[in-house]
Amino acid sequence: MAGNSWMLLAVLAIHLVQCKVEKVIEDPASVVYKPSWMYKCMVNEGCQRTEHPQPLGNAETNATSHLYQNVNLCRTVCGRFGGLWPRPVSATLSTQTVKIHPQYLRYDLVDVPVETRELLAQMTQVTSENIMAECGGNVTELVTTPVVVYLTVKSDVIALTWDTNEEYFLDVQTKDGTVVVKIMAETVYGVRHGLESFTQLISADKPDYSDSSICGLRIVSGAKIRDRPVYKHRGFVLDTSRHFIPMKDIKRTMDGMAATKMNVFHWHVTDSHSFPLESSRVPQFTRYGAYSASEIYTVEEVRQLIKYAQIRGIRVVIEIDAPAHSGNGWQWGKDYGFGDLAVCVNSEPWRRLCIQPPCGQLNPANPVLYRVLRSLYRDIVGVLPKPALFHMGGDEVFFGCWNSSQDITSYMANKGFETNTEGFMRLWAEFQAKALQLWDEELVAEGAEANQPVMIWSSELTQAHRIKKYLNKDRYVIEVWEPESSPLLNQLMRLGYRVVSIPKDVWYLDHGFWGQTKYSNWRRMYSYMLPRDPNVLGGEIAMWTEYVDTEVLDTRVWPRAAAAAERLWADPSAGAQAAEARLQRLRARLRARGLRADALAPAWCEQHDARCI
Ligand SMILES: *[C@@H]1O[C@H](CO)[C@@H](O)[C@H](O)[C@H]1NC(C)=O
Ligand SMILES: *[C@@H]1O[C@H](CO)[C@@H](O)[C@H](O)[C@H]1NC(C)=O
Ligand SMILES: *[C@@H]1O[C@H](CO)[C@@H](O)[C@H](O)[C@H]1NC(C)=O
Repeated sequence: MAGNSWMLLAVLAIHLVQCKVEKVIEDPASVVYKPSWMYKCMVNEGCQRTEHPQPLGNAETNATSHLYQNVNLCRTVCGRFGGLWPRPVSATLSTQTVKIHPQYLRYDLVDVPVETRELLAQMTQVTSENIMAECGGNVTELVTTPVVVYLTVKSDVIALTWDTNEEYFLDVQTKDGTVVVKIMAETVYGVRHGLESFTQLISADKPDYSDSSICGLRIVSGAKIRDRPVYKHRGFVLDTSRHFIPMKDIKRTMDGMAATKMNVFHWHVTDSHSFPLESSRVPQFTRYGAYSASEIYTVEEVRQLIKYAQIRGIRVVIEIDAPAHSGNGWQWGKDYGFGDLAVCVNSEPWRRLCIQPPCGQLNPANPVLYRVLRSLYRDIVGVLPKPALFHMGGDEVFFGCWNSSQDITSYMANKGFETNTEGFMRLWAEFQAKALQLWDEELVAEGAEANQPVMIWSSELTQAHRIKKYLNKDRYVIEVWEPESSPLLNQLMRLGYRVVSIPKDVWYLDHGFWGQTKYSNWRRMYSYMLPRDPNVLGGEIAMWTEYVDTEVLDTRVWPRAAAAAERLWADPSAGAQAAEARLQRLRARLRARGLRADALAPAWCEQHDARCI
């Protein structure tokens, strides 16, 4: 007892002393932090803090001594590729900068086909917003240097496809007090990438110590960039079924994709867990499938999202996973007298019926299923930009589920399919063929071109010894989600199938957060290399959302997705080390644009590129 009292007194005494000391040191009125660090270029890439804080008078970016008062500005200027992410094919950048203000920035759209003008106007508006974001939306240091951006587009085509030419040339020159920027491209999407690179030549110029009340912008005074992607398909998969992801979060994710020149938003919108996509022809999907009345993507919102994506050079690919990964949203058939549209929905024990709860798999024995699918496909054809690219799902069909349904096994018996692996494979392939035919018919009904390729996940059906029997290589692009060590990607490529690579042990952003899966940091993601072959369209990086919702989306995705983006755009031979300073710059850029990108290193390391490797 006595001992405890003494201890309590001692603790109180220490506490009192600490309070007193803190009071003396942390008097806010007496602590005004003025001298600031300056930053200088490293020999190779990146920037480092000076040895000593600089006195206030010198703390303005000093072009003659190549000292910058802000690490982001330093990284924008220093190194072979400055602050550009992904790195361009070639770039020559001046080490001088010029102060600019958005009020004196204008775009000249004289040399562009009339069909592209509206889209270009929207693209330039996004560009200006991104430039102002460097100063938190308010550029307070006024200068009157004119900046004129001349845009040249040759083609009047505004459809975004695998054949779209995304190449651009960017030229910046400062003469007689005017900054002249020229962006030339075959297509509007090439120009868009050029505009994105243009924003990346600009950085806020403000000392570290200041509050945000003084903020000016500087642009690299001269630049020549020639650039085009190595891979046509640079995708990001977002699952909005395991958790509903609000539209504003999806749009912000697209902002990050646009910043890193990714061009495919693969929307895994439904799964067995929920069906948030509104269908005007089949309102039951969301009525039975949405988590709540507010967790629905309305037809109008989807239209707006597709437009939002287009302005950012992104093609939206909607995936309706089938026949597996379908449950909630499909469980109303009996209530309407249509029989079961899906079987095993939410059934237990789940381990016998599916890979992950809740279970559910479409019922290929029920003819009404195909009527319902047709209506859903019609709605999707209606919103997708043409030529439409659709993802038919097709992964992880669990035969135990179909085998548990009397309905399905009788149907198979009638067809002469045995209830062994090959029999179920035939049933699955039959479903797939019918579903593709419905899709084609609905495209034709909309007056769109049919026989377009569709995407499908790799599966038992796409094994090298089986695929030719079931899937036509002119119609199916196979998205291979095998581990990096799997031979499937190369096998399918050699069989003449077009493939998209998504190595699950490297480019799955959810790995490391559940089960035995292993987390990949950005360096590991960066080091994955795809085969260079005309049949390899590109790759995707995936955010499955079992353990992700709006709260953590940004930090889980960014900046790691950017590592895949640079791999797909530039496929550099240099490793992650040479890229780190630019990735730090990208991270700051994403944060300025409202994305909560995760930290890459301790703050001291952020101020000393290449010192923590
Ligand atoms: C800029 O750097 C040069 C060379 O170090 C120095 O002589 C000059 O005083 C500096 N100017 C400013 C404004 O700090
Ligand atoms: C921008 O900054 C100026 C000067 O600090 C301030 O007067 C103005 O209200 C700010 N505008 C916005 C939109 O924040
Ligand atoms: C389906 O069920 C039957 C009878 O219960 C069984 O013999 C057969 O092996 C099962 N098939 C599969 C592929 O599991």
